[in-house]
Amino acid sequence: MAAMPAPPDDARSYAAETVRVEACGDDGVILSIRVDGALGPLRAGRFFMLRRADNLSPAIPRPFSVYRQQADGTLDFLIKVMGPGTRALAETRPGTELVAVGPLGIGWNTLDGAGDPWVMLAGGIGSAPFFMGIEQAQQGMDGAQPVANDRMTLFYGAATAGLLYDFEAFEALGVRTLAATDDGTRGFRGNVVQLLEEEWSAGRVPERVRVLACGPDPMLQAVARMAGERELDCWLSLETMMGCGVGICNGCAVETLPEGPLGDWPVAKCCVDGPVFKTDAIKL
Ligand SMILES: Cc1cc2nc3c(=O)[nH]c(=O)nc-3n(C[C@H](O)[C@H](O)[C@H](O)COP(=O)(O)OP(=O)(O)OC[C@H]3O[C@@H](n4cnc5c(N)ncnc54)[C@H](O)[C@@H]3O)c2cc1C
Ligand code: FES
Repeated sequence: MAAMPAPPDDARSYAAETVRVEACGDDGVILSIRVDGALGPLRAGRFFMLRRADNLSPAIPRPFSVYRQQADGTLDFLIKVMGPGTRALAETRPGTELVAVGPLGIGWNTLDGAGDPWVMLAGGIGSAPFFMGIEQAQQGMDGAQPVANDRMTLFYGAATAGLLYDFEAFEALGVRTLAATDDGTRGFRGNVVQLLEEEWSAGRVPERVRVLACGPDPMLQAVARMAGERELDCWLSLETMMGCGVGICNGCAVETLPEGPLGDWPVAKCCVDGPVFKTDAIKL
């Protein structure tokens, strides 16, 4: 049997403070924070549990992917305001005291420049883990060959243009970035899976690609189905609700596939086994 999942060795509870809050899109912010401690370079796709230190946040912190790690150590988070936890963070001011537990989770697999090109599918705020993912792929992860810009395509979808958070910043990374909106207010009218199918039909994306996706569950289910039908390697970053973030509460259980690599136990914990899973490991 596999070892009991445990929080990563480098995870700590940090006192932190807000450095800046900038509005982003119709209902989001970019929250920049400084933690009281030295963080090494963070792998894209890892996350922190965040809350305010005062009583204005719910007691249970909320998980957020690291959007960017700035050269001066500042961490940026791209946050969609959903309810009390996200609102309390969005309403902080420079100097507001925070508690940040992390870095947590495993993050993206190595994006290797050798092998099939990469297709990244982001749904709304599910774009957050891709910014550093693209940057690290461009630089070369874990000593792997860097991924050339023309071997990555980002498909970024949302209900409407105002929910394509920080779209221009993604475009500025230099990777082909295509928008899809349900209402057609930007780019393709439809969802990212439909847009990918269209790009395949037009021969603008190679048939054999490796797929990464992050977004709402129905989108991830559609991505997993598509990848299964086409027999593509596919990794999903899940946004399961979380209680502790460190493997204790079982609040983030994800059903495993018995025949998959995690199949010796019926559930995996998204916070410590994920949040990135290969589609052959989990049942959505
Ligand atoms: C690993 C990970 C990384 C994440 N990264 C980001 C990020 O970078 N940016 C970001 O904005 N959000 C991210 N999320 C989602 C974020 O944690 C939730 O939106 C947040 O916890 C909502 O808290 P709240 O108190 O504002 O809303 P709540 O009151 O807790 O929820 C408001 C509404 O949203 C629903 N909801 C809450 N959490 C989720 C969820 N995870 N999935 C679907 N519906 C949910 C609730 O059922 C409720 O209807 C991430 C989640 C995970 C697990
Ligand atoms: S959130 Fe508590 S075990 Fe994963």
